[in-house]
Amino acid sequence: MEKDIARVLLSEEQLQNRVREMAAQISEDYRDKNPTMVCILKGAVMFYTDLLRAMPIPLNMDFMAVSSYGKGTKSSGEVEIRKDLSSSIEGKHVIIVEDIVDSGFTLTYLTRVLASRGAASIKLCTLLDKPSRRAPGITLKADYAGFEVGNEFVVGYGLDYAEKYRNLPYIGILKPEVYE
Ligand code: PRP
Repeated sequence: MEKDIARVLLSEEQLQNRVREMAAQISEDYRDKNPTMVCILKGAVMFYTDLLRAMPIPLNMDFMAVSSYGKGTKSSGEVEIRKDLSSSIEGKHVIIVEDIVDSGFTLTYLTRVLASRGAASIKLCTLLDKPSRRAPGITLKADYAGFEVGNEFVVGYGLDYAEKYRNLPYIGILKPEVYE
């Protein structure tokens, strides 16, 4: 995999340090709230497990898988639920955990769906935020964001290109010749 990476954007150490800071902040904010932490498969898995391991408060784990129609390197704006939560979130404090916010369509859609199920509160936590790619009309802002990144093709630590590179322990920038 290494040969396809132009450069390391965020090292293992940078990721782990920031994830621990985010865990401390969320734990302080949710100390007595028993939050339901919703992992959005698959990209968020590495971030989610590291984040939760660093949170010393009671919480619930749940998982969703969604997919945007029309794959490729751009999101199309339409979202489909492929795997739903296993428990009701009515009256619960929900934190949606994502690896990256790009166009913002996925999180905008998920927030609307989970709000309609009667959650007591919903907050958004993302490891990476790419604000330069936000679609017109999308005003979404993450409540907890790890790093702001530019418009580069990032892979690793859960993020893929064509299902590859998710198991890299760092986040790297993919060489353009790999996807062009
Ligand atoms: C990625 C990412 C977010 C979404 C963000 O998921 O994990 O869910 O795209 O893009 P958006 O802000 O433009 O909606 P992807 O559909 O690639 O699935 P994956 O997590 O299984 O890789």
